Amino acid sequence: MLYSALLQFHSVWRWFAFVLPLVVLQRSARASLVRAPYAPIDRKLALATTIALDVQLLVGLALWCGVSPLGLLQFGATPGLMKNAVLRYWAVEHGAMMVLAVGAFHGISASAKKLTDDGAKHKRVAIACAVVVVLVLVNMPWPGRPFGRPLMPGM
Ligand code: HEM
Repeated sequence: MLYSALLQFHSVWRWFAFVLPLVVLQRSARASLVRAPYAPIDRKLALATTIALDVQLLVGLALWCGVSPLGLLQFGATPGLMKNAVLRYWAVEHGAMMVLAVGAFHGISASAKKLTDDGAKHKRVAIACAVVVVLVLVNMPWPGRPFGRPLMPGM
């Protein structure tokens, strides 16, 4: 019950965690080129992106820590776990790469906050979003991959 609820939430919420950084990347890349001021809407969108990523991270961690049978519980339960590409993806690669993506986003965004020049701030935010977009894109369980999942639950 909890497992299916969290998994479905994690599956749907991925679109916020993917599309918001993409929108902010496009806006901030453009704004850094035209040297637009860092406006309140930019701050709000950056906050929404942070919330989307952090919620996805927390739910992913809960799944990995024991709600899902495919995370931590695999260690010890499945001999030769690391030799099975699908099990290895869920037990190790997916979580590790997504933690790295969200961690990199936080680190680079924090450094953007210290900048006083708006153009430089937009550029730094664009870099933070580009890093997270690329890492999430590469590590998403897209349909068709050996460990692929549907684009929406129940599809
Ligand atoms: C932006 C970050 C993340 C995205 C976009 C993402 C995306 C996804 C997607 C699309 C699924 C498949 C859902 C389905 O079955 O329909 C999934 C499952 C899962 N994710 Fe994530 N995830 C992220 C972060 C994390 C993190 C940080 C962890 C753990 C540390 C994690 C652990 C898991 C686990 C354990 C599963 C479930 C496997 C199962 O029981 O079927 N995820 N994730």
